[in-house]
Amino acid sequence: MDRSEEEWSRLGAQLPAWVEISREMTAFGRPASYIPELAGAPAHALGIAVMEPSGRIVAAGDCGLRFTMQSISKVFTLLLALMDNGEEGVFRKVGMEPTGDDFNSMLKLELVEPGIPFNPLINAGAIAISSLIAGATPAEKTQRIFAFLRRLAGDDTIVGDEAVYASESATAFRNRSLAYFLKDNRVLEDKDDVEEVLDVYFRHCSALATCRHIARMGLVLALGGVDPATGEQLVPRRFVQIAKTFMFSCGMYNASGEFAIRVGLPAKSGVAGGIMTLVPGRYGIGVVGPALNGKGNSTAGVHLLEKLSREFDWSLF
Ligand code: DON
Repeated sequence: MDRSEEEWSRLGAQLPAWVEISREMTAFGRPASYIPELAGAPAHALGIAVMEPSGRIVAAGDCGLRFTMQSISKVFTLLLALMDNGEEGVFRKVGMEPTGDDFNSMLKLELVEPGIPFNPLINAGAIAISSLIAGATPAEKTQRIFAFLRRLAGDDTIVGDEAVYASESATAFRNRSLAYFLKDNRVLEDKDDVEEVLDVYFRHCSALATCRHIARMGLVLALGGVDPATGEQLVPRRFVQIAKTFMFSCGMYNASGEFAIRVGLPAKSGVAGGIMTLVPGRYGIGVVGPALNGKGNSTAGVHLLEKLSREFDWSLF
């Protein structure tokens, strides 16, 4: 058995036990409640799926749980915006730096000239990115985003969760403030209606997925934008490189530095408890654990990924 085959079989054999150990960490977190509809998520759930280029999957725990992608979807709107506008068009509106602030902070929008969001993965940046998605109407933009998500997830039934969408839209006072700030700073232009831009943003955050979907999407990124089933280049390699770099530097918000040390892989979390990560060229990984730590990342999910990275020496460094 070669080394990777040996790793795969150990992963399959051990994963259920490792999930149960990490599940105990759910006691130290809570599901997000600032979007009221997320508060009822199963607090002790933990699931994971790992997919390799051949299409084989190892999954364990609550991997059947459907959850909203939330900020994980920002990686894909960034990719679509890059495909629609090119690098120059995107980097006129968002920067390339981590903030060290909370994901919904507006501090630096006011303090640091020229008042563009520091990066596309914080809320302000992702709202700016929503305005860059091509389409004549919000519905058309949303439809294009969902078509892209379906393509990468290999499942054309992916839809949004209407209740989560409505719950977020009704309570998004902070995101509305950010969006109006962006309008005042001319990041959102005259043609950009603030409510329409926000609607696209709330819609893509509400996209429903399982760990298997997230693992497959992560695998496409791990393969530099290539569809593992068809070999087709779905996204230009350079854009995938940009997205993975942002995942590494900003994907776990102001816990990105700690995650880089503990796990050492590009990753993106969402407030419904999902984490998408990948081992370059080898695996896409989807994790869900709705109990979040103080930085907004899945407590048990991070614990489990640290265990896997150490066991298999996955850190990029
Ligand atoms: O804008 C929000 O607050 C959510 N729709 C997404 C935030 C999120 O997932 C941040 N993640 N850790």
